[in-house]
Amino acid sequence: MLAALPLAEPDPLWALLRAFRTDGRTDKIDLVVGVYRDATGETPVMRAVQEAEVRLALAAASKSYRALSGNAAFNDGMAKLLLGENTMALERQCTIQTVGGTGALRLLADFIALASPHATVWSTNPGYVNHRPIMTAAGLAVRSFRWQENETGLDIGTAIADLQQARQGDIVLLHGCCHNPSGIDPSREQWRQLAELCGRRGLIPLIDMAYQGFGDGIEEDAFGLRHLVGELETVLVAASCSKNMGLYCERTGAAMVIAAEARPLANVRATLERLTRASYSMPPEHGAAIAADLFENSRTWLAELAACRKRVADTRRDLADALARCGAPEPLQALSRQKGMFSLLPLDQHQMNRLRQDFGVYGTASGRINIAGLLPHQIDRLADALVSVSELPPVKASA
Ligand SMILES: Cc1ncc(COP(=O)(O)O)c(C=O)c1O
Repeated sequence: MLAALPLAEPDPLWALLRAFRTDGRTDKIDLVVGVYRDATGETPVMRAVQEAEVRLALAAASKSYRALSGNAAFNDGMAKLLLGENTMALERQCTIQTVGGTGALRLLADFIALASPHATVWSTNPGYVNHRPIMTAAGLAVRSFRWQENETGLDIGTAIADLQQARQGDIVLLHGCCHNPSGIDPSREQWRQLAELCGRRGLIPLIDMAYQGFGDGIEEDAFGLRHLVGELETVLVAASCSKNMGLYCERTGAAMVIAAEARPLANVRATLERLTRASYSMPPEHGAAIAADLFENSRTWLAELAACRKRVADTRRDLADALARCGAPEPLQALSRQKGMFSLLPLDQHQMNRLRQDFGVYGTASGRINIAGLLPHQIDRLADALVSVSELPPVKASA
């Protein structure tokens, strides 16, 4: 059996991280991995999370098996976080705890494959590197639509033009906010256009909400999702608590299905539970119990999240200012208009290699940088490095 095992390429992201770790330069800059870092370069445990953990330890709840759908208070809190506290939409949703946002995406992919096996999933290009592998692992066909910028923001015209090829019942996979990797988010008017398109063409949105609270705020970042839910019968949501609660390794997330009415939800829940039962049975309790505590005692958590959001926005602004001072070309300065932890640099693989080799700056080969990984004292040096590599002549293919 093992002799016939197809060769699996190692994940290029981890290879880059290994290269970073073994790079001896003291002024190297890691903008690869998608985690929040504070101004000292740490990814701290939030104080609100530590306090919740103390309360949980003192309560010493049994470690016995839990429900297949996970922690009920967590599911309830996540539904309200995503949809709002006082909305009729809460009556027509089913939310179940998952193993991180990735687990939510995979569970929903399996759900789609069961309910609508011939649906195509339309994913943004550029898009999150793991979307296509997750969807294809569930047996779904994936196609892409352009997600690019013009002078004012998202070029909605090209996105909608590409989606004209989608058929009724197809899935449109959208990032709820803080698009990874481009940082390009729709305006409110553009969300309305996307909702109108989905309604008119019978397309079903799957919203990947991995950064709620990292853009403009918890409520503001949910605008697109809530608008779609208000306009459409069926919406799917994959949510992650990795970033906005800093619960990365606790693998805490939720899958939500919104239906036209409450009636089919019992079957939706039973189906989701059957799918998890055949995979990992039930999700781990700890992260969800922490999150449920944060919902109850939200003040410290929300203040800490606001501080993270501000640091990311300030870093982005300071980098944009430094680029402007260096006279960087316009495409490099576009990152000032983008949002969240990431931006996609207008640099090719050769330029990204030179950035790494000549300046010790590590981003992904595709040009993605994690703005939240940048420390205040590194900003001017990064701006200089970006301008230098952007001026390199194009590489000629060897004869
Ligand atoms: C767009 C997007 N979706 C989903 C995820 C997965 O989140 P999790 O770590 O909770 O599995 C990430 C993580 O980086 C992401 O960027």
